Amino acid sequence: MNTGKKIGILTSGGDSPGMNAAVVSVARCASDKGLQLMGIKRGYNGLLGLSDKPEDDIEYLDLETVLDIMDMRGTYLRTARCLPFLKAEVREQAAEDLKKQGIEALVVIGGDGSYRGALELCRLGVPCIGIPGTIDNDLAYTEATLGYDTAVNVCVEAVRSIRATSRSHDRPAVVEVMGRNCGDIAMRTAIATGAEMVIVPEMEWDMLELADRLKFLLKKGNTRATLIISEHCWHKMKPFDWRKVIEDSKRVIHPDDPLTSERLALVLKLLCKTEARATVIGYTQRGAIPTAYDSAFAFDAGRMAVDLLTKDASTFKDGFAIGVRDGRVYSTPFEDALDENRKKFFDEDLYRLVNRL
Ligand code: F6P
Repeated sequence: MNTGKKIGILTSGGDSPGMNAAVVSVARCASDKGLQLMGIKRGYNGLLGLSDKPEDDIEYLDLETVLDIMDMRGTYLRTARCLPFLKAEVREQAAEDLKKQGIEALVVIGGDGSYRGALELCRLGVPCIGIPGTIDNDLAYTEATLGYDTAVNVCVEAVRSIRATSRSHDRPAVVEVMGRNCGDIAMRTAIATGAEMVIVPEMEWDMLELADRLKFLLKKGNTRATLIISEHCWHKMKPFDWRKVIEDSKRVIHPDDPLTSERLALVLKLLCKTEARATVIGYTQRGAIPTAYDSAFAFDAGRMAVDLLTKDASTFKDGFAIGVRDGRVYSTPFEDALDENRKKFFDEDLYRLVNRL
């Protein structure tokens, strides 16, 4: 059955494990409903006709094309953060071009920035559905984002290995994980690995308290003590002249040098008179093969996206974002998903417990 209807799909923002699985799910469910699926390349850039060859911007995704991408790493459609799309005239042109090409609706897989672009397209008459593709788990309307579970598993695996080496060498570790301004990856990694210290962008922290905690752990004989730090937690440090600690050790530090995990490990080493090493887990969190949870979540989300797009257009208004509530996939209007009054829950008691036990 071919209804003659065409929909588009794109991945946008940082790549996250499960994006390809979501594309496959949308492709299979779209085919089941007789819809043609067009893959738009490099996020919203693919809507702007920037490439020399049209096939670098947009590609027909039949089942044969997507057959092998289910557990492929990264995103088959490529991704980008598209700054021109912040301009109203650029979005208007993109919406017009989509309509000219007969693409009636769009599935956008990405984080909050990508959702804002999708909401604007909805207002220009292109219905959009959002699938929360980001490792950060930083969207308040959903209990999980696509790729978060995989990212946590990558971090847990890495920290387990690091803790083994820390134990072998009696050498505490500082491990930096991603998450943008959300400490979920760090918290989950800490509780799943038994790490003794964690710092996150949600909470203020104190260098001397951290050093005291490490000294206490070392005194108890715990030489594999691990500090998990979430990137972007530096601005939450209470005032402390860490540069002076480094200078006093006769090392060179420039006034512009920022605090990094490596420098934090050095400061702790100097304050606690121990060895300490830093590891930044980095992009291994994004380029991993999705866990079963993320692959299955991708399937459910893709199925719901196609269901919503085949509903009566009058129910649509400003589009929908798919998320997880009480463990089940659900949808809510973009405006609700992006509502700034929604506060993402952060478990402060758990945070304090990890740093105390
Ligand atoms: O949003 C995903 C994420 O990996 C964040 O955790 C991180 O802050 C950011 O993207 C890094 O972005 P870039 O792709 O520019 O390195």
